[in-house]
Amino acid sequence: MGTDIGTTLLPRDVPNLSVRRHDVVQEDFPAASFDLVHARALLEHLPERAEVLGKMARWTAPGGWVCVETVMAVHPPSGTRNAYQRCLNAVFTLSENVMGTDQRWGTALPGLLSQAGLTDIGVHCTPGLVGRNGNADAFLRLSLEQIGPALVRARLTTPEELTECTDLLEGGKYTDLALMTLSAWADAPATDSP
Ligand SMILES: C[S@@+](CC[C@H](N)C(=O)[O-])C[C@H]1O[C@@H](n2cnc3c(N)ncnc32)[C@H](O)[C@@H]1O
Repeated sequence: MGTDIGTTLLPRDVPNLSVRRHDVVQEDFPAASFDLVHARALLEHLPERAEVLGKMARWTAPGGWVCVETVMAVHPPSGTRNAYQRCLNAVFTLSENVMGTDQRWGTALPGLLSQAGLTDIGVHCTPGLVGRNGNADAFLRLSLEQIGPALVRARLTTPEELTECTDLLEGGKYTDLALMTLSAWADAPATDSP
């Protein structure tokens, strides 16, 4: 089952996949409903992230798995920041102010999985890279196109700086780290057989 509060972008043609509108904060599933419960790029945006993680653990059947993938901020070295680094930082600040996003929350994730009663915790980090005209460049260019006006209204950047950043991202002219994805998974302990 694939769920979201907005399901229009979820695929309808995947065999064995049903799609359902579901709010992970307001709604529930019965305990032990699934063998695998997975969330990507979701919990960092929800102020209720710890409670939702607890629910995900409850929804997992004994012997099943919880997997959480969360996008984390990459902080530039101290000293002068260029337009790319300042715009990325502006995006983090706006999402924190408007949605309560916490791009550093991933550091607490392994501990929270353990506190939720899960075991065999594993982690893997995938850093994004701009400068190869790949997915990270396109994602950041499109994101800045969409939320650029809001960043300017919030006085987190200027139109000139946005243009400078977009120029850096175009054509693979500028190389730097982009967002980092932390994947963490854990096992719901199997119930003891009699
Ligand atoms: C950054 S997008 C990630 C989308 C997708 N999971 C992915 O990895 O490509 C965050 C998603 O969380 C969904 N979302 C926000 N609040 C939610 C909630 N309370 N319950 C379920 N989904 C929610 C949004 O509709 C949006 O699709």
